[in-house]
Amino acid sequence: MNIEEVASYCKRRGIIFPTSEIYGQVPGFYDYGPVGVELSRNLKNYWWKTFVQDRDDIIGIDGSIITNPLVWKASGHVDSFVDPLTECKKCKKRFRADHIVEEKTGKQTDGLKNEQLSELIINEKIKCPDCKGDLGAVKSFNQMFCTNVGPVEGNIAYLRPETAQSIFADYKSVMDSARVKPPFGIAQIGKAFRNEISPRNFIFRKREFEQMEIEFFTKADKKNDCLDYDKISNLRLKILSGEKQEKGLSDAEEMSIKTAFEKKIFSNKWHAYWTATFYQWFLDLGIDANKLRIRQHMKSELSFYSAGTVDIEYEFPMGFKEVQGIADRTTYDLTQHQNLSKQNLEYFDEETKTKEILYVATEPSLGVERLLLLVLFNGLKEEPERLVLKIHPKIAPYKIAVFPLIKKDLEPKAREVYNLMKEEFSSFYDEAGSIGKRYRRQDEIGTPYCLTVDYDTLKDESVTLRMRDSMKQERIKISELIPKIKEAIKKGLV
Ligand code: GLY
Repeated sequence: MNIEEVASYCKRRGIIFPTSEIYGQVPGFYDYGPVGVELSRNLKNYWWKTFVQDRDDIIGIDGSIITNPLVWKASGHVDSFVDPLTECKKCKKRFRADHIVEEKTGKQTDGLKNEQLSELIINEKIKCPDCKGDLGAVKSFNQMFCTNVGPVEGNIAYLRPETAQSIFADYKSVMDSARVKPPFGIAQIGKAFRNEISPRNFIFRKREFEQMEIEFFTKADKKNDCLDYDKISNLRLKILSGEKQEKGLSDAEEMSIKTAFEKKIFSNKWHAYWTATFYQWFLDLGIDANKLRIRQHMKSELSFYSAGTVDIEYEFPMGFKEVQGIADRTTYDLTQHQNLSKQNLEYFDEETKTKEILYVATEPSLGVERLLLLVLFNGLKEEPERLVLKIHPKIAPYKIAVFPLIKKDLEPKAREVYNLMKEEFSSFYDEAGSIGKRYRRQDEIGTPYCLTVDYDTLKDESVTLRMRDSMKQERIKISELIPKIKEAIKKGLV
């Protein structure tokens, strides 16, 4: 399936549709439908459970979208969070200059300055993709959405372009209220906004989106003291180094985390640890390892705050694309906030009686929509008789669908089973159409277990349990369903 086919499937199945479509779509904005909202919540809950609730070294916050605008001055976003923009002199349409150059020439543009992009546009004779008019000189366009707070004109504020800054801006309050000692992380899931010049690829590049981020702090001289490093150091994965890309090469090499660390792919051992941990998390979700790779950022493309970044990329139909960015943000952000706010953001070590700004050894930043798209591309299978979404049961929108074989006579018993299931699992009741059609509808949205109530159920209190992937059916007592399904979800049996 290509991206347009997936977009059409998402609309048909109530997963995602364009925002306020009855008035015409606003590019870059989408809404979740009844199935999509369950799927995205399950992904977020699974992330939160794994990285916050199940760990002793990470705590969470939930910051507001609008903050004091000085947050964005200190962070560098006011001055540096820009994209290169070119405008057609004829039709006045605006485009991402780097994207246009990449599409027309196949050349990598990461790290190129506006003047270099302008030169490429002239030398490569690149014209407006819409009207073939001449394109103007490349300028910087700030991606932050701006608004006004209260009735006072000029009292501007920005919609946050990353959740990370709420963590840094709240850092002092967290430190004053939670008794944490480095190494520790602060996590957050929340909305972020970027006024993309040309949002595209369905939900891959949206203007309003959600991030799941962790800022993981260590003492600066302890960023290589990662106790669990040995547990992950033998994990093998495909890695495309920055050095290779600088030579124009794009083939990833398989190597262990240990070798990659020795080759300086990672900035510190926590950086290696978090990359491996998230890579393993993707595998545990059932993502195909053959479609994943780690790409180290070249020096020229590093974000202004980063001393080293790697992306976990997935091979979408439109090529390998970033799903998760994992950066070493150094002491940059806290130092900037300490300087501008004049508040002391140093950590006081009771043992050594020393004070220091803690070091963000790693920031793993994952987009909810990109994860959802990855899960769909990885899981959607077109089989001869059906389209089926093969996703792990723990993230499936509905765990169970209950059907009466025939509505007449069997509805009360089927509803009884449905109500029982609903107490434990997110469930769906369907009595419309043939059983075959009902199975197909559930297959398409990834429901792992279907239960059919028939005339025998009335006699022996058993139902038919049908598994999504194997399509195997078995007879099972109603009283045994809950433990059996709980076990199947845990083990990923489908
Ligand atoms: N916090 C990293 C990012 O939003 O890209």
